[in-house]
Amino acid sequence: MARITAGVTTSHVPAIGAALDLGKQDSDYWAPVFAGYEWSKTWIANERPDVVILVYNDHASAFSLEVIPTFAIGCADDFAIADEGFGPRPVPKVMGHADLACHLAQSLILDEFDMTVINEMKVDHGLTVPLSLLFGQPSEWPVKVVPIVVNVIQYPPPTGERCFKLGQALRRAIESFDEDLNVQIWGTGGMSHQLQGPRAGLINQEFDNAFLDNMTENPDDLRKIPHLEYVREAGSEGIELVMWLIMRGALGDAVTMLHRFYHVPASNTAVGHLVLRAAAE
Ligand code: DHB
Ligand code: FE
Repeated sequence: MARITAGVTTSHVPAIGAALDLGKQDSDYWAPVFAGYEWSKTWIANERPDVVILVYNDHASAFSLEVIPTFAIGCADDFAIADEGFGPRPVPKVMGHADLACHLAQSLILDEFDMTVINEMKVDHGLTVPLSLLFGQPSEWPVKVVPIVVNVIQYPPPTGERCFKLGQALRRAIESFDEDLNVQIWGTGGMSHQLQGPRAGLINQEFDNAFLDNMTENPDDLRKIPHLEYVREAGSEGIELVMWLIMRGALGDAVTMLHRFYHVPASNTAVGHLVLRAAAE
């Protein structure tokens, strides 16, 4: 049987990808950011997951305002790297796990989560920056990836509660896949940030640290946070944090925190990163 062994959350700031691609990771500005991922890189090299279910949001790279799926799942064999305006990042293409993804799509839809099935998609910084942070700069990514894409760009995004329940359904779906796979689930995006308007540059360290606390201690409180509270407390792009709740819902009740990192700022964003051990089945 496939099993969820661990969860990872991390911000996905595009400038982090650029820093790596341009060889600036040892600079005064970037070294403290990358230092927060050193523990995790060693950890994941030992864990050797087969597949990462990578929950992220597309930033108008694969989807435009013409088509906006609330929840979508990437069922392709591979995913090319999107050009976000400066050419595609020089990273390997992302290999999918079509059998697992199709099983998850079927299980989730029959479990009443109406996923959009994607058979071809380019992936942007929301997916590639977390891979770079955990795996560095390999010639091939050492895991297969099943992308789960969430709309947090165009109002209305899904609620945190709905996201948490999707995570619970994902766990049921993964545990009913009849192949012995070590599966991790990653929730990306966040933490507090606002990229536009009079409050551009907003960062709320108190909100972020309470959110990090509650990811392990009290996820039921996080499930109840309404959209307006995300916007008010964590800025307009802070809503990306609902994607962390998909990861948290998939991990089960009693998780163990293995690693926690918080750093301000990276570009316009507070960077938050957690590694959680999933509850035993
Ligand atoms: C930044 C952060 C994001 O999450 C994003 O999608 C784009 C930009 C930033 O901090 O600059
Ligand atoms: Fe983003």
